[in-house]
Amino acid sequence: MLDGVMNVLLIGSGGREHALAWKISASPLIGAFYCVPGNPGIAEHATCIDMDIDDHEAIIDLCREKNITLIVVGPEAPLVAGLSDKLELAGFPVFGPSAAAAQLEGSKGFTKDLCDRFGIPTGAYMRFNNAPKAKAYARQMGAPIVIKADGLAAGKGVTVAQSLEEALAAIDDCFEGAFGEAGAEVVVEEFLVGEEASFFCICDGTQVLPLTTAQDHKAVGDGDTGPNTGGMGAYSPAPIMTDALVQRTMDEIIKPTLTGMEQMGTPFRGVLYAGLMITETGPQLIEYNVRFGDPECQALMMRLKDDLLMIIKAAVDGQLWTMSTRWTDQSALCVVMAANGYPGAYRKGTSIGNLDQASADKDTEIFHAGTARSGGDLVANGGRVLGITALGDTVRQAQQSAYRAVDLIEWEDGFCRWDIGWRAIARESQDG
Ligand code: AMP
Ligand code: GLY
Repeated sequence: MLDGVMNVLLIGSGGREHALAWKISASPLIGAFYCVPGNPGIAEHATCIDMDIDDHEAIIDLCREKNITLIVVGPEAPLVAGLSDKLELAGFPVFGPSAAAAQLEGSKGFTKDLCDRFGIPTGAYMRFNNAPKAKAYARQMGAPIVIKADGLAAGKGVTVAQSLEEALAAIDDCFEGAFGEAGAEVVVEEFLVGEEASFFCICDGTQVLPLTTAQDHKAVGDGDTGPNTGGMGAYSPAPIMTDALVQRTMDEIIKPTLTGMEQMGTPFRGVLYAGLMITETGPQLIEYNVRFGDPECQALMMRLKDDLLMIIKAAVDGQLWTMSTRWTDQSALCVVMAANGYPGAYRKGTSIGNLDQASADKDTEIFHAGTARSGGDLVANGGRVLGITALGDTVRQAQQSAYRAVDLIEWEDGFCRWDIGWRAIARESQDG
């Protein structure tokens, strides 16, 4: 066995995890590679094992059986549920924060309090555990105003209310159980005006390695209309994030957060994803996620020139200072194909074809998000099903390549947005 070779277990089954598997499998340091539960795209890089990711004991047994030397956790739910803590206790090195540190995503109130305590720029807010007081504060602040269920609500717990009536209804929804336990507490927050961008970094508890920027499209319809989804597309880098804004984000938001987490005895180790609003006065924090974004991760992995596994290993070992990252100057753009009806009810089991031809171009990758095998056929098995990701010298060129691939995919029940990247492309045409 080569020195430093690792047996890796990846947790998750979405487009984010396929992109991670694709990148990790390219590392000379990869030994045996498993994924729980994985998907047919991931199966091209790793051995997929169909297990319940909520069954932490079974995952620990698997790590023992397969001699796993590094675990990478993709999604937030197992992190918030304490999978990292349990794996570490069992002696396995894991990339992904403890449950205490994952509160940065698992409790919006926790993050707002942290911002307050350490002077991190974010919208004014209050936390409530009952409707009358929350409503009184919303009335006092006036619309537009933002109502958030405190806990994890699969991206659905946030209402940006344009009127007071809408805000009051959202408060009732939360306390009446629309988001289950996640809505037992509510954050009422100032509406921030500006353009959104995402910033990613990797932390080892003490040090931080800045990665790069991205922008995503949350709304289901062209022109950013219709209900919010997990994300219908993304591109990287985010043209709005100049070097100066990245520096301010590091100094004013990321570093004080990590210092604060350390001071509170809950150091953060893993991927920290800051959702930012670039306002007239500078970057403000909208929210944190404690993992890569999906589909942002697909665009990021296409641009990363370095060995992801080596970076992750350095983070787990507390050696991040030895690392730097290089990114291609090209833009990467990901278009999500979803099943008709998503984010509402949709069908599963519809047949998908011609992916080989659609991804023949060397700068185009098709990441599986919600697919399954049925007999020999590839079928849809989720709301967001594929992430068609392409590199280009400009966002426009990346967009053209991605849509060329979309046109070649044979899937009658699928749809996508046709304007992914529009803001960046408008900026490119403006800049000439
Ligand atoms: P979140 O789930 O916290 O990312 O919120 C979902 C979306 O709601 C964000 O991507 C923003 O578009 C919007 N949003 C959340 N908080 C605010 C805020 N304070 N001001 C304006 N928009 C917000
Ligand atoms: N695309 C948004 C997220 O991953 O939270």
